[in-house]
Amino acid sequence: MDIEKFQQIHLQIPSPLHEIHDSLWSEQNIRIFIKRDDLIHPIISGNKWRKLNEYIRLAQQTPDYSLLSFGGAFSNHLYSLAYVGYVMGIKTIGIIRGEELNIQSNPYLIQMNQWGMNLHFISRDAYRKKEIPTQLGEIRFILIPEGGYGKLGLKGMKDLSSEIMQEIKPDYLITALGTGTTALGLIQSYNIKTIGILTLKNKKEIEEHIIEHAINAENLDLHTVYVFDKYAKSHDFLDTFCALFETSHQIKIEPIYTGRMFYGLYDLLKKKYFESGSTIVALHTGGIKLTDGAF
Ligand SMILES: Cc1ncc(COP(=O)(O)O)c(C=O)c1O
Repeated sequence: MDIEKFQQIHLQIPSPLHEIHDSLWSEQNIRIFIKRDDLIHPIISGNKWRKLNEYIRLAQQTPDYSLLSFGGAFSNHLYSLAYVGYVMGIKTIGIIRGEELNIQSNPYLIQMNQWGMNLHFISRDAYRKKEIPTQLGEIRFILIPEGGYGKLGLKGMKDLSSEIMQEIKPDYLITALGTGTTALGLIQSYNIKTIGILTLKNKKEIEEHIIEHAINAENLDLHTVYVFDKYAKSHDFLDTFCALFETSHQIKIEPIYTGRMFYGLYDLLKKKYFESGSTIVALHTGGIKLTDGAF
């Protein structure tokens, strides 16, 4: 299926922009909008479509090639890739961290296998080195770096940036960082002060990405204090914060990325980081597997 047709039929693009209200910011004369990329699609949720779409375009021009990427056994990125490959008729290969695993190890892997992703399980050491399994032999592939990073991943943020700018001219945008693709892709394509909430201790890696792609990052303000302990580590206070946020705004967030991002935003608001009169867009990058209930 052609990518434009797929986007038209299956995806909610442009994603909606919702204003949220609370005395914490209304008393400071600040407005907050959430860019609901979590509503783009139940599976290719959040920034997954944004990061993958340029790779998909490339794969459609080179039908003999598979899209190959890396991830853990619960990777949202690989799950989305497997689905999109299935629906659009693109061959996909997933290299999974953990040689002890197999296609039956969890419901996501079972599903990815059913969608036709060619799954390979490699040791943690081989994964660190991003080794391509020799069994793949002569298969031709386009490599998508882990988490959808890379030049094409960054380029995929262009449409997101135009969507935001067509609706609103915010003073600030705030987003969570993993690989940094979303935040760096955005600052490449617009001129808005962008607050990046790190979710893992990888500031050095983000700075290397900035140099690698010669990105002008003067508008980027990175915050490392909301990592708290360690990536993917759950904390009771973050779980509680996410639950309260959902009760107040009827919007689901999760503790790893969007929970940390909104926690950071609330904290910055409490510290009077933003000038009175500011408009802020918080990017909801998804992360909630809406298929969870089905398993
Ligand atoms: C829900 C969610 N938000 C944010 C991120 C971080 O995005 P990036 O890797 O582009 O920095 C991820 C990771 O892919 C994610 O799954």
